[in-house]
Amino acid sequence: MKLAVVGGGSTYTPELIDGFARLRDTLPVEELVLIDPAAERLELVGGLARRILARQGHPATVVTTADLDAGVADADAVLIQLRVGGQAAREQDETWPLECGCVGQETTGAGGLAKALRTVPVVLDIAERVRRAAPDAWIIDFTNPVGIVTRALLQAGHRAVGLCNVAIGFQRKFAALLDVAPEQVHLDHVGLNHLTWERGVRLGGPDGENVLPKLLAEHGDAIAADLHMPRQIVDRLGVVPSYYLRYYYAHDEVVRELRTRPSRAAEVAAMEKQLLEMYGDPALDEKPALLAKRGGAFYSEAAVALASSLLRGTGDVQVVNAYNNGTLPFLPDDAVIEVPAAVDATGAAPLPVPSLEPLYAGLVAHVTAYEDLALEAALRGGRDRVFAALLAHPLIGQYEYAEALTDRLIAHNREHLAWA
Ligand code: G6P
Ligand code: MN
Repeated sequence: MKLAVVGGGSTYTPELIDGFARLRDTLPVEELVLIDPAAERLELVGGLARRILARQGHPATVVTTADLDAGVADADAVLIQLRVGGQAAREQDETWPLECGCVGQETTGAGGLAKALRTVPVVLDIAERVRRAAPDAWIIDFTNPVGIVTRALLQAGHRAVGLCNVAIGFQRKFAALLDVAPEQVHLDHVGLNHLTWERGVRLGGPDGENVLPKLLAEHGDAIAADLHMPRQIVDRLGVVPSYYLRYYYAHDEVVRELRTRPSRAAEVAAMEKQLLEMYGDPALDEKPALLAKRGGAFYSEAAVALASSLLRGTGDVQVVNAYNNGTLPFLPDDAVIEVPAAVDATGAAPLPVPSLEPLYAGLVAHVTAYEDLALEAALRGGRDRVFAALLAHPLIGQYEYAEALTDRLIAHNREHLAWA
């Protein structure tokens, strides 16, 4: 089995390699190709990847290359995990929206739109090249904003599934609180990428007993504290929103906080510098603890499980990003939603979802319309399309802000936007 990782020079990659090493019975990888244009970084990460595998006695070979076409040739699966413009571009996305009183975040609001505009054309180009060099390969997209990028890939006819670690993070957390194995915990997870709620937590299987009420009664404080939301709100909803919902439910509070502290991009850039220094140490042969301070916890496990189900056709249930196809009847069939899906060699098919309450359905519909316009703007460019997407976003919505944010988005991203 050959796996290629586009953006393989990411400081996150050792997390992925650690997953491949630990879970080799689930996913027997023989060749792992790390592809990245940043040669120096790639060598540091590639060296550590080889040491992690060797330590665990894993037989896979690790190839590092800047040549995308050769790197993905005949791969069984291609993971795309890249960040156009790096942390510097992220820092901008997190900063200029604050000037207009709007949240500055890498995937939510105006910053998320900027990221989509930079990213969609790059990922589509990569996917075209994958289609030529490895026509049967599955594309697993971790590249944010995952909902919009996955929709772009599916609309262009690629064999793609979008993945995020929010669901697996909740699964692991709830399993620990309940003192059961993670595989025992099945989530009634629903929404769009980075806009989801856990409406049920079931034990043993998708139809198992719903222990969410019990979890909230016994561990409500811990769950709410993790989300940085008041327990009262979680109790009133009776469901567990993802921490990305805080950008909606506590928008102005978050803006006030963000104005008084360094950006997440700056924090991450400092961590990346430290991590790369560590990776250069020939004595290091495991993923360093510092990596746990990044948001991507458990993403390797989600990736291994998804690749295994796609390549081995196991038909098991995983939370992924896929076409709606009637699952949420109030959305278009070609909207991309994030829900539990049966995954086999033909792809991911969402399982039926009980009717979504208006409290959540309204926001989901609203953000889906924004994502539709965001994808239009990413594919076709133009100031008016950027403006329309911003005006449609539930966190923006007023023309005064949409105008000001459009100007800033274009000014800060000119070098990444072919049309600007
Ligand atoms: C979570 C999200 C990812 C996001 C990451 C950011 O894992 O699901 O989509 O990229 O957080 O983490 P960072 O450490 O870069 O802030
Ligand atoms: Mn995510």
